[in-house]
Amino acid sequence: MFEFLKRNQKPEPIFETLGIDLHNHMIPMVDDGSESAEMTVGCIRTMWECGFRKMYITPHFSFPRYPNREDDIVQRFNEIKKTLVENGVEMEMLGIGGEYQIDDGFAPRMENPHFLTVGADNYLLVELSLHQLRMGFEQVIENLLMKDQQVILAHPERYLYLSSTPTRFETLKNQGVLFQCNILSLAGFYGHEAQSRAVKMIENGWVDFLATDLHNYMYADALRAATHNRTVQKILGKYKFMNKELEIKHRNKI
Ligand SMILES: [Fe+2]
Repeated sequence: MFEFLKRNQKPEPIFETLGIDLHNHMIPMVDDGSESAEMTVGCIRTMWECGFRKMYITPHFSFPRYPNREDDIVQRFNEIKKTLVENGVEMEMLGIGGEYQIDDGFAPRMENPHFLTVGADNYLLVELSLHQLRMGFEQVIENLLMKDQQVILAHPERYLYLSSTPTRFETLKNQGVLFQCNILSLAGFYGHEAQSRAVKMIENGWVDFLATDLHNYMYADALRAATHNRTVQKILGKYKFMNKELEIKHRNKI
């Protein structure tokens, strides 16, 4: 753990090959992510140093913990974008998405969907509870796919309660769900089990995106250290990910 906390370790820009980050919590004070505009500026500077050049921001939408509203989040995104420019941060902001938890608040959203998405209109980042299985989540995902939403499942390697049923992941892949693993999982930030599962999923060819899931300075320090991590370096050198394709879709949309 202490490896991640080394401050002032000079990062290498190894994430240039990914180019775009599609999952992080850099809107200040709307979830468990950034606590201030100052923290957002600092964290995004670190992301830049680590090689990211463009990004989306994806605050939590979950019930009842983070009852965010899309219109409010869009407004806050425009504000932080301005602050970043004023502070000379070069990172290009591609847009504002969300990380939607499939929970009790999700069904009502389905009735009148106006999700904040990444890349193309139908790239929807969803997450499950980290702690317990939600019965019927596959059906919710199936409904989204039927409504032509392209589902990206955030950090599948972190749902350890699904470890005894690995075929669930295969089913999701066969349904057409895209997987996004966390870079920090590969570096061991969430423990050995998440790390080995992330590596295995990538080796299986199941993982479409890597992302930071950056929350605060501690994560930024971990990301900096991850640029020196051999597992992370090996994975980036050996496998291809779709991060840059998000922008192609984004540009096509315009
Ligand atoms: Fe997240």
